[in-house]
Amino acid sequence: MSETVAAGEAVEAGDGPKPVRIGLLGRGNVGAAFAELLAERAEAVEAATGRRPEISGVLTRSAGDFAEILEGSDLIVELMGGTEPAREYAIAAMRAGRPFVTANKQLLAQHGDELFQIARECGVQLRFEAAVAAVIPIVRTIQEGFAATEIEKVYGIVNGTTNFILSEMAACGAGYEETLARAQELGYAEADPTDDVSGADAAAKMAILARLAFHTPVTLSEVAYEGIEGITPDDLAFAKELGLSLKLLGVAERRGETISVRVFPCFLYSGHPLAPIEGAFNAVMIQADAINEVTLSGPGAGGLQTASAVLGDVVSILAGDTPVHETRTELPIVADVPSSFYLHLEVADQPGVLARIATVLGDHQVSVKSVVQQGIGADARLVMVVHECLESSFARAVEALNGLGELRAPARSIHVIEEAV
Ligand SMILES: NC(=O)c1ccc[n+]([C@@H]2O[C@H](COP(=O)([O-])OP(=O)(O)OC[C@H]3O[C@@H](n4cnc5c(N)ncnc54)[C@H](OP(=O)(O)O)[C@@H]3O)[C@@H](O)[C@H]2O)c1
Repeated sequence: MSETVAAGEAVEAGDGPKPVRIGLLGRGNVGAAFAELLAERAEAVEAATGRRPEISGVLTRSAGDFAEILEGSDLIVELMGGTEPAREYAIAAMRAGRPFVTANKQLLAQHGDELFQIARECGVQLRFEAAVAAVIPIVRTIQEGFAATEIEKVYGIVNGTTNFILSEMAACGAGYEETLARAQELGYAEADPTDDVSGADAAAKMAILARLAFHTPVTLSEVAYEGIEGITPDDLAFAKELGLSLKLLGVAERRGETISVRVFPCFLYSGHPLAPIEGAFNAVMIQADAINEVTLSGPGAGGLQTASAVLGDVVSILAGDTPVHETRTELPIVADVPSSFYLHLEVADQPGVLARIATVLGDHQVSVKSVVQQGIGADARLVMVVHECLESSFARAVEALNGLGELRAPARSIHVIEEAV
């Protein structure tokens, strides 16, 4: 615990306890919403914790001085984004004994080892609920609710922008570029959407969730990710025929004495709990033997929603709740794991083609679960779902298929999660 904001501590001054002074770094979308929410809810926070919070200083690019803000605060809330100077300020704050609250996924995903280590050394709290899926209390649930549960798998939709784009493409049959432009108009995608659509934003969140779930160091650079830029309306139309819906999934799972942490577009069977999550929403599932399966869903972004999660962290600190940031083991991260796939082939409509394709797949231990065939002039489209196989075997099969003279375009493939998960 911090020397300045200890559990249940109420520093008497005159008529009552002194307010808790919060140094706010960043007053943009989330920072401004946080300042407003804090002013509105200060009384409720005081009723719950015995301490009244107030903003004692604000830092932006153009105003405020970090050293002064630190000196005049009991707790620091970082809502600037980026890794520097956020990392430098986090370290300075914790070394000065100030609990540190952040919504910054990049900071935790890239510098988690260092920051957790310093928090432990200094005995201060480092809280970051809003860094993953904003208002959905997934960090708290894993760290506190399931502190004694051996989690097998954490996975879900952790990027609202891509979920909005994929939902719109499926609903309207529109192309990726057109739908992205609409998402930008509506404020669901940033002017530069690269981090979201490439899967990098989801990868940062999965690095954080994997670290918490498996008590092992995981950094962003160890998470393999692919985005949604290559998805076509055809993929979605054919998927509909197969009863599938498309999501950008983050998946962190235990595999024996290793783990895998990845982000990829994935088709889900219609009965899957994540299949109905539409629009800019997030949903995360936790699986473990002891609990079976838990799904949390809700808005994964937004100034007010994110600010509400940040305020929740402040309340937890004032109430003296101490989460466990423990690294218990170092599990190797593996990239080659079994998966099912959707495979889309455009081929010459000639006798024997299907048999040749089946032979290539069989030669690579890939077996077909279902096929839809459609004529397109002198050619044919084959859309199939293959049973679970090692990703490396599937990649080799696709490479071999691309070498067949009968293929009219390179094969397209997307992960699939089977009905029984
Ligand atoms: N927006 C969301 O829905 C959402 C959801 C979950 C998590 N988050 C996270 O919340 C954090 C804040 O996001 P946001 O959307 O509020 O960002 P934003 O609107 O861009 O605001 C950033 C604020 O930080 C200040 N700032 C940036 N760099 C600074 C620096 N080097 N020194 C001093 N001040 C600096 C900016 O100052 P100026 O005002 O002078 O430009 C601005 O006030 C990010 O880590 C983001 O990933 C956001």
